Amino acid sequence: MITEISSPSASAPSRHPTPELYPGLAGVAMSTTRLSRVDGEGGRLTLAGHALEDIASRATFEEMLYLLWTGGLPGQEQLGTLHDELVRRRNLSPATLELLRHAARRSMSPMDALRMAAGSFDLADEPALDSTQLAGFDATTLGLVAKMPTAVAAYHRLRRGEEPLEPRPELSSSADFLHGLDGREPSAARERALDTYLATVSDHGLNASTFTARVIVSTGSDVLSAVVGALGALKGPLHGGAPGPALDMVFEIGRPERAEAFLRAKLERGERLMGFGHRVYRVRDPRAEVLREAARELFAEDADAGLYALTRHVERTAVALLAEYKPGRRLDTNVELYTALLLHGLGLPNDLFTPVFAIGRTAGWVAHCREQKAEGRLIRPRLVYDGPEDLPWVPVGER
Ligand code: ACO
Repeated sequence: MITEISSPSASAPSRHPTPELYPGLAGVAMSTTRLSRVDGEGGRLTLAGHALEDIASRATFEEMLYLLWTGGLPGQEQLGTLHDELVRRRNLSPATLELLRHAARRSMSPMDALRMAAGSFDLADEPALDSTQLAGFDATTLGLVAKMPTAVAAYHRLRRGEEPLEPRPELSSSADFLHGLDGREPSAARERALDTYLATVSDHGLNASTFTARVIVSTGSDVLSAVVGALGALKGPLHGGAPGPALDMVFEIGRPERAEAFLRAKLERGERLMGFGHRVYRVRDPRAEVLREAARELFAEDADAGLYALTRHVERTAVALLAEYKPGRRLDTNVELYTALLLHGLGLPNDLFTPVFAIGRTAGWVAHCREQKAEGRLIRPRLVYDGPEDLPWVPVGER
């Protein structure tokens, strides 16, 4: 049952009706969803009916997209059509490329570049879907999803003085993205690791960026505007911007024996440990475990096993210290620590972590926009005014 925020003014009329205050809207539900269930006490995440642990290491990006947008998994034929439809929409327009070149010349952060690029996607000209296999899909939002990885990879190359690579139609979304970064043939292990990451972060209840997207479409605005707004929300270090700093912290610690003193000093200074704590989870974020396992597999294959072991040690030390410094808060590992490790293992620089998060989360943002549009209700919470009242007007010469 959804309980709306009640206004005491309903029973006691007053000149200044005061809504009830829920700081940060914590614990407030505003609607229902079929997309994901976040069980903060049990540490479980369900994605469109599938347990995260069951689906994340198996589904491809395309399968997650289909699942979130239609509610079911695609058959072989539908998957093939979805691949083809994404492929024919991957290329960026000259205008978007020019914008990315400009951003590279100005050394903008990849997240700012992606926000600008996404805002320039000319989706009105997307070719019509040529198949009946994709009921529930539309050309515009498919174009958006298809172009996001191309834009991130293109920007990565442009800022290193390299030309963007042509998308390769035979490659999956994940493989083409990896190839688009460095032109290397992506191994099956790297493609699988990225698919696992993108599936893991594809949706997660009413997080800050999803809320932003829902607010925007609830006004009757369009999905591209909603995604541009969501990118802005995701960028913040308390949301999607944490993995870079989380990995920096591990590198700064450098050796297991330095972890405790380093983390203790941070907590003594009142600083937050990036990659720990969550608004909803009161136990270990289930995504952390899925990504830890994916990182373990990837690092066993072709990355620095010492870094994996160090991260494990930093995690255990941080969780123990957070229990000591914030007793009763139940602060545990969130998705970002192993996001950082996995994406680093894939060879991505720190400042590409959040844009890659955005590539995966776009599937969820668009699905939420659809749910919100179907509900058709404007999102408009209230604030409690606590400023002065009845101030006298003082003419400018007398102030
Ligand atoms: N390190 C140290 N202390 C922490 C941390 C942390 N990572 N997280 C919370 N706390 C402390 C706060 O300082 C506060 O202590 P106080 O009451 O003594 O002042 C208490 O725990 C409660 O913190 P809140 O900010 O009220 O908790 P909230 O639910 O609002 O915060 C958040 C959640 C923002 C994620 C927080 O845990 C945090 O800042 N974590 C670090 C950043 C991070 O990893 N962000 C990624 C989150 S996952 C995602 O969005 C994809």
